Amino acid sequence: MNPVLQTLMLACSEDDRFETSGRVLFIGAEPHPQLIGLSGLTAWQPLKPLAAACDAVGMTRVGALPEGRWPLVLVLPGKSHDEVLESFAIARDRLEPGGSVVIAMSNATGAARCEKEFAKAAGTVTSLQKHKCRAFRASDDGSWNEKVVETWRGLSGLHEFGNPAWVTRPGVFSHGRIDPGSQFLSDHFPAFLHGRAADLGAGWGFLSHAVAARCRGIRSIDLYEADSRALECARVNLAVRKRDDCQLDFLWHDVQTGLSASYDVIFMNPPFHTGREKDIDLGRSFIRVAASSLSRGGTLLLVANRALPYEQALDQAGLAWRSVAENQSYKILSATRRSS
Ligand SMILES: C[S@@+](CC[C@H](N)C(=O)[O-])C[C@H]1O[C@@H](n2cnc3c(N)ncnc32)[C@H](O)[C@@H]1O
Repeated sequence: MNPVLQTLMLACSEDDRFETSGRVLFIGAEPHPQLIGLSGLTAWQPLKPLAAACDAVGMTRVGALPEGRWPLVLVLPGKSHDEVLESFAIARDRLEPGGSVVIAMSNATGAARCEKEFAKAAGTVTSLQKHKCRAFRASDDGSWNEKVVETWRGLSGLHEFGNPAWVTRPGVFSHGRIDPGSQFLSDHFPAFLHGRAADLGAGWGFLSHAVAARCRGIRSIDLYEADSRALECARVNLAVRKRDDCQLDFLWHDVQTGLSASYDVIFMNPPFHTGREKDIDLGRSFIRVAASSLSRGGTLLLVANRALPYEQALDQAGLAWRSVAENQSYKILSATRRSS
């Protein structure tokens, strides 16, 4: 089990409110035996694989960040610093007067520093350390420093950059900038690509826009993305750059579970991290799924850091591949199904 979750639940078991409050909001929810069957629980989780894990054990989960006030708010913050501070603001704004917030983070993600930042607003904070993690909690006793909370709120939600503007938000991949690998791939999309396309791990929509803009023969793009916050940004970004003759579908989906359709073109900048950990198997599984969803004669285009060993994964997936371009940091690979 995730040690951060274990530490959070340990802190909860020392908090009377967990048994008595009846109503609990869990931001960044993950499944835990103590939460199964808890009737007053409201769980929110933007990442599809974790949301599906909550559903699988019957935890009450909501799709959108809920509004309201709770006597107890639990938080497992995400990995970027802005996202951590945003989650503090989200928790604060959903706390009943007198209510408690309990937050857990691993030491490796800067738990001690974040606890100090949290204390700047919350004042008295109690904490426990276990499993190389830290859980810290505070109650709303009416003395929180609202100026500090206001700076957290300022980091929250959609932010614009570029001209014409793109929107991104804390926690999504490549917040506030275009990823250089994706930029490199977008410069190399062959204009002749056509038909039905899929963008695997679509993020906030940069690559889908690039394909729609450059490849006029592309008639539809299915954007598959596990992070509902990124998909929300993609919807906004592509609504203002819409091509009337290209249908877009935004799918909150775990690509590792497979795709329900087949495609003439699949493109991606595959993920290779789960949380903060490097996870090259995640990229390899994207390749396997793409290979099984390519139409006859279909093309897979991907960009990756030069050091990532995806050529072998393409071979193993039964694809014939070639290198399209390389620069100092990235490579672009194009693949088609080997004729049997
Ligand atoms: C390297 S980023 C590329 C994002 C976007 N295509 C771009 O170019 O900016 C990989 C994306 O895959 C998403 N992702 C990670 N695991 C996923 C999964 N299992 N299913 C679907 N998307 C996933 C991440 O949330 C992230 O947005």
